[in-house]
Amino acid sequence: MAETFEGRNVLVVGGAGFVGSNLVRFILKQQPRKLTIIDNFLSADPINVPDHPAVRLVSSSIANDRVLREIDDDLDYAYHLACYHGNQSSIHDPLADHENNNITSLKLFERLKDIKSLKKVVYAAAGCAVAAKTFDGAQATKEDAPVSLFHDSPYSISKLVGEMYGNYYFMRHGMPFVKARFQNVYGPGEILGAGRWRGTPATVWRNVTPTFIWKALHGEALPVENGGIASRDFIFVEDMARGLMACALRGEPGEIYNLGSGVETTILELAERVNELSANDTAIAMTPARDWDRSGQRFGDPSKAREKLGFEAQVPHLEGLRRTVEWAREFRPCILRCMMQHVHFLPELRRYESTAR
Ligand SMILES: NC(=O)c1ccc[n+]([C@@H]2O[C@H](COP(=O)([O-])OP(=O)(O)OC[C@H]3O[C@@H](n4cnc5c(N)ncnc54)[C@H](O)[C@@H]3O)[C@@H](O)[C@H]2O)c1
Repeated sequence: MAETFEGRNVLVVGGAGFVGSNLVRFILKQQPRKLTIIDNFLSADPINVPDHPAVRLVSSSIANDRVLREIDDDLDYAYHLACYHGNQSSIHDPLADHENNNITSLKLFERLKDIKSLKKVVYAAAGCAVAAKTFDGAQATKEDAPVSLFHDSPYSISKLVGEMYGNYYFMRHGMPFVKARFQNVYGPGEILGAGRWRGTPATVWRNVTPTFIWKALHGEALPVENGGIASRDFIFVEDMARGLMACALRGEPGEIYNLGSGVETTILELAERVNELSANDTAIAMTPARDWDRSGQRFGDPSKAREKLGFEAQVPHLEGLRRTVEWAREFRPCILRCMMQHVHFLPELRRYESTAR
């Protein structure tokens, strides 16, 4: 019979976050014996933690020595999804990135190396850290694409260092390490403004999809940089959760798998789809490129995950977007509450207190 999480003891570090909380809900459907979430709520809101008898929540940093000592010695699976979200925050405060995105990986792996019952340790690696930075006919990025030593953000460096530490613990200590290289995840549960202020407006405007949806639902012009020619590989969060489960249950220790749709979508296409689904007829606002962002076109090659894990993204972009827009409408009060935590730093957010569509 195929392996599942039934009766297993699972750890999800960063499990209160966007992807983590979706993953937790999917794993819970398979009835694990115990599921521990360790999260310091730096970029998460407690509303995303499911109220379930198998769930134990530890509200702390994974870099805390006591928390590390108290990790169960009979773990079956561990996920490491904690990060310092995201690129702009890490540029603003590289040391905070180091503390939450780098030393966290090292300390966690140092602890996990001693847990002999572990079947897999799955790490959230970032496709953006390896994608070729071109606007000139990008190719789908494969898992073994060459990696540059020159990076646009401390976040990007930290994500790669996490892969390298994990590889080291795999080679030296036999830690059963599997890397999941994420493409651009979107979907229900990504709450704008969730967590603590991280020094820039990106604390609120986390990612392009939820930002566009929020603005479109409020009748605003969607800001599209550089003609909207940049492209991303958007993967719906439920597909991502299934891919992460496949990495734990069927991934080969030491291996790496792209988790993406393999479909290239331009930012202009995204903006047009969001406007249509949100019935927003305000024209798109074209803006110049951000100075640090030279990411260009990028999408991952999903063939290895398909062949080796039997994993394939199933939710088409338009359908995933439709479900995300619906969720954003329904959860508007919760999203607004999280955004307004930062109104002291971003007084312009006040305009959302009264204008809902
Ligand atoms: N969402 C994407 O498109 C994407 C793309 C590439 C890689 N990733 C990676 O996937 C993972 C999850 O991303 P997400 O989009 O869900 O982000 P997220 O910010 O929602 O999740 C990260 C979680 O880590 C927690 N955290 C931060 N520092 C911590 C610490 N010191 N100890 C314990 N918990 C801590 C945060 O509170 C949050 O819950 C991250 O590692 C991210 O780098 C995401």
